[in-house]
Amino acid sequence: MQIETITTHPYNDQNPGTSGLRKKVKVFQQPGYLENFVQSIFDSLHGFTGKTLVLGGDGRYFNRPAIQIIIKMAAANGFGKLIIGQGGLLSTPAASHIIRKNNAFGGLILSASHNPGGPDEDFGIKYNVGNGGPAPEKYTNAFYQRSLTIDSYKTAQLEDIDLDRIGTQQIEGLNITIVDPVTDYAELMQSIFDFNLLKQSISSGYITLLFDAMHAITGPYAKRILIDILGAIPDSVINAEPLEDFGGHHPDPNLAHAQELAERMFSPAAPVFGAASDGDGDRNMITGSNIFVTPSDSLAIMAANAHLIPAYAQGLRGVARSMPTSQAVDRVAACYNIPCYETPTGWKFFGNLLDAGKITLCGEESFGTGSDHVREKDGLWAVLFWLNLIARKRQSVADIVHEHWQKFGRDIYCRHDYEAVEMDIANGIVEHLRSQLPALPGQTFGEYTVKYADEFSYEDSVDGSVSSNQGIRIGFENGSRIIFRLSGTGTVGATLRIYLERFEADASKHDQDAQVALAELIGLAEQFCEVKKRTGRTEPDVVT
Ligand code: G6P
Ligand code: ZN
Repeated sequence: MQIETITTHPYNDQNPGTSGLRKKVKVFQQPGYLENFVQSIFDSLHGFTGKTLVLGGDGRYFNRPAIQIIIKMAAANGFGKLIIGQGGLLSTPAASHIIRKNNAFGGLILSASHNPGGPDEDFGIKYNVGNGGPAPEKYTNAFYQRSLTIDSYKTAQLEDIDLDRIGTQQIEGLNITIVDPVTDYAELMQSIFDFNLLKQSISSGYITLLFDAMHAITGPYAKRILIDILGAIPDSVINAEPLEDFGGHHPDPNLAHAQELAERMFSPAAPVFGAASDGDGDRNMITGSNIFVTPSDSLAIMAANAHLIPAYAQGLRGVARSMPTSQAVDRVAACYNIPCYETPTGWKFFGNLLDAGKITLCGEESFGTGSDHVREKDGLWAVLFWLNLIARKRQSVADIVHEHWQKFGRDIYCRHDYEAVEMDIANGIVEHLRSQLPALPGQTFGEYTVKYADEFSYEDSVDGSVSSNQGIRIGFENGSRIIFRLSGTGTVGATLRIYLERFEADASKHDQDAQVALAELIGLAEQFCEVKKRTGRTEPDVVT
């Protein structure tokens, strides 16, 4: 194999965020930009000569050229085998599974998740380690440090690979296997859930469903699993064709972006169950006929009912949630007497807990839930989990949710996002919040007395690593919380996220609208952070 060493110059902005390096496509198209980052990753890893790398992406614009570039670089750097999804496609959870199943050294996943795609939109790349999960911070820090000094990268002189032909090719000592992106994943799902029960419930008409693939990666997965295997009618999956620009939409599963689904689920003819997933298939939004389930509630409900699912029939070892996720799952853990861990935002923080067998289930408010079956959050897995619950409990989504609130109380919850805030203003807001923290405990605002006010810091109980500055928390005596964080996934300016929650034990008050029930906390949040005052905006860009 003829290997070329190409001289390059470092870029100073290749610091991975919450989930890999995400930039505009135009940034990635700069000379050597992708190559620098990939070489920085390879330079920071050790011992992969002759080993396997898994490669795939969510199919967004620039996916195919990026895969061709990476194939040549992986070959030049000494990998022995590449496993690539057909057409360069792999959902993030499927990639995680394929890494694990094949004992691969690691994988590169090309995605900017729920961010829009297209020539003027976003692209992304992240490295997953051998357990199938996102690289922990010690890796991503090393990638960034290397990217600051890199002066060359290696590439092999190979023809472009035919990404569409399934099978194995041997190219100058390099083994390249193109796999169907869905098959292994579908088998994994069949090993977790009761597919016979699901088939019956769907064919008898007890469960009607609607899944919005948002023109992203889950289209082929949902068609195969929900329609071909489980027998749902073809119209059950909408926007199923993956498109490079996701049809011009945000492939972000929330009520604002999954608009068609939202309209149909909140109508008199709504099916029993509705769900959507994001660009790379790791997120999920759960709805039922005329009800939206917050991701925090979804996690708690899954934890409370996991024993009804074949793979979790023995019960859960423990659960975990990210810090801004509501405390609903904590109540379930307390009731079942299992540990509940609170981690910073970002799936990578669950990896050690899952590997160590400390938790079985975990989730985040950002529409992510998952378990120890892979090391990523998993959108279709969550969909199948809920379908399995509905089939087993023979209850509607609304009944399942209300029954849960009756038993555990309701953690009324919402998140307000202010997007594309100027960096200086966003940093000013954070500084302003920080300066107030020492004086807040003990102060009373209406019915809320501050119990603690701090910045969240996490010590990993498995490897002892510490992650600081993971969000500002203001907690109240009655268990309510306001949390402020700057997003780590945006590509334009800063996104301020404000997370609000209040516990309501009284069942007669469980049907309140969250914005109404949280109005006082929403007012307090503005008083503390002054985002409206400082930006001149009158309302958040997104409310979830
Ligand atoms: C990605 C990560 C999640 C994280 C989410 C929100 O989807 O995989 O683990 O919760 O981003 O991150 P952000 O920093 O934008 O709030
Ligand atoms: Zn995603």
